Amino acid sequence: MTQAGPVRPDLSRRIVLGVGGGIAAYKVCEVLRRLAEAGHQVRVVPTEAALRFVGAPTWEALSGLPVHQGLFDDVPEVPHVRLGQTADLVLIAPATADLLARAAHGRADDLLCATLLTARCPVLLVPAMHTEMWEHPATVHNVAVLRSRGTIVAQPASGRLTGADSGAGRLPEPAEIVDLATLLLRRADALPRDLAGRHVVISAGGTREPLDPVRYLGNRSSGRQGYALARVAVQRGAQVTLVAAHTADLTDPAGVEVVRVSTAREMREVVLKAAPHADVVVMVAAVADFRPANPQPRKIKKVGSGLDPVSLVVNPDILVELVRGRPQGQIVVGFAAETGDSDGDVLTHGRAKLARKGCDLLVVNAVGEGGAFEVDHNTGWLLSDDGVETELPQGPKSLLASHVWDGIAARLERSAPPSSARLDA
Ligand code: CTP
Repeated sequence: MTQAGPVRPDLSRRIVLGVGGGIAAYKVCEVLRRLAEAGHQVRVVPTEAALRFVGAPTWEALSGLPVHQGLFDDVPEVPHVRLGQTADLVLIAPATADLLARAAHGRADDLLCATLLTARCPVLLVPAMHTEMWEHPATVHNVAVLRSRGTIVAQPASGRLTGADSGAGRLPEPAEIVDLATLLLRRADALPRDLAGRHVVISAGGTREPLDPVRYLGNRSSGRQGYALARVAVQRGAQVTLVAAHTADLTDPAGVEVVRVSTAREMREVVLKAAPHADVVVMVAAVADFRPANPQPRKIKKVGSGLDPVSLVVNPDILVELVRGRPQGQIVVGFAAETGDSDGDVLTHGRAKLARKGCDLLVVNAVGEGGAFEVDHNTGWLLSDDGVETELPQGPKSLLASHVWDGIAARLERSAPPSSARLDA
C-alpha cells in the first residue's frame, strides 16, 4: 500500500474532511493523521451524529485546526460557503446511507451538506454501512445519481461489519482512502466510471519457486503497482480479480476479489482459468522465468546431499499463452522492468518485448538506481502495438495506474462491448 510521505510545500493542499455518523468514524482519525502528516491542511467537518462517535477535541488535536460544526458557528466567516469554495478536495468518510441520500438530493441542512453544494473540486465519498443498507434500492439509486454528477463514490470493502455481521459495506482501510485522496489531488480526473461493466484480471507480486521446504527462488517485486492498478480499476467501475503472488504487507484493495498463489505454475492455472471471461488481462506480476529442476520434499543439507541445488528448468510464459488464447476483443497488457544495456536502452528493450510477446499494450518501467521496485513512485512508457508510445508521468503508483487505465479504456472503447451485460450500480 502506498504510504503518503511528507509532500513538497507546493503540493500541500486544502482538504475538507467530512465525517459521517457511523462507527467507522474512529478509523477516519487515522486518515486525518496521515493527511495532516503529509503536510495537507485538513479542516474537519463532522456531522452532529459523527460527534457522538468521536468528539471534537480528537479531530482538533489531530488536524491542528478548529473543528467546524454547525451552520450557525463563526457566521462572519461564512463557513458554509467558504469551506467548499476554497477546498482542493472534499473527502467524506464514513459516508453513511443518510449522508448519501442528503447529498444526492442536494440538501443543505447542515454544514457538511452545504459545503458539498459549494465545492467545485473533486468530491470523494467513502461509504460505510451495513450490507442491507448499501444494497437497498434507495441507496443504489442515490449512489448512481451522485456518480452521474461526477461525485466519486468509492466502492466499499467486504468483511467484518459492526457486531457479528460481515459483508459489503465496510470502510476501506485508512491507507487506501489516503491513497485515493492523494491520487485525486494529483489528478482530479483520475477516476472516471469508464470501466463499468468490464471484468479485469490483474496479476501482481513475485512468484516463489521452491528449492525445498525452507528455501525458494524469488524476486524483489512488492506487488504495489499491481495493487494500485486493481484499486484504481475497481473505483473506475470494473469487476476486478487480482491474482496475487508474494507481496509486501499490502492491504487488499476494497471491492476486489483476491486469489492468492505462490509459484509461476499456480499463477498460470488461476490466470488462464479467469482470463476467458475477462475484457482485460494485465500481467504485472514478476513471474520467475526459471524454477529449480528438483525441488526437494526435505531440507537440502549443505554437505552430502549430492544434489545440484541450482539446476533450473524454464517456467511457462503466461503472457504469451494469454495472447495466443485470447477471445476476440480482449486486451492483454504486459509489464516490463528494464535496465538497458549495451544492446539498447530501456525503450529499445521494451519495443522488442512488445513485439516478442504479442500483447496489445506494454508498460515499460526503468529499474535500478531507485526505480520501480519496493518504492511507491514509478514512471515509464505505455507502448501500444499500433506504434503509439505515451510517456507516463513520474508520481505515485496509483497515478501511473490511472494513466495506464486511460490507455486501456480508450482501446476498449474502440474494440469491444463489455464481456458481461452487468449494469453499473
Ligand atoms: N511473464 C509471464 N510469464 C513468465 C515471465 C513473464 O507472463 N514466465 C510476463 C510478466 O508478467 C510481464 C511480461 O511477461 O507482464 C514481461 O516480463 P519479463 O520478465 O520482463 O519478460 P521475460 O520474457 O522474462 O524477459 P526477460 O528476458 O527480459 O526477463
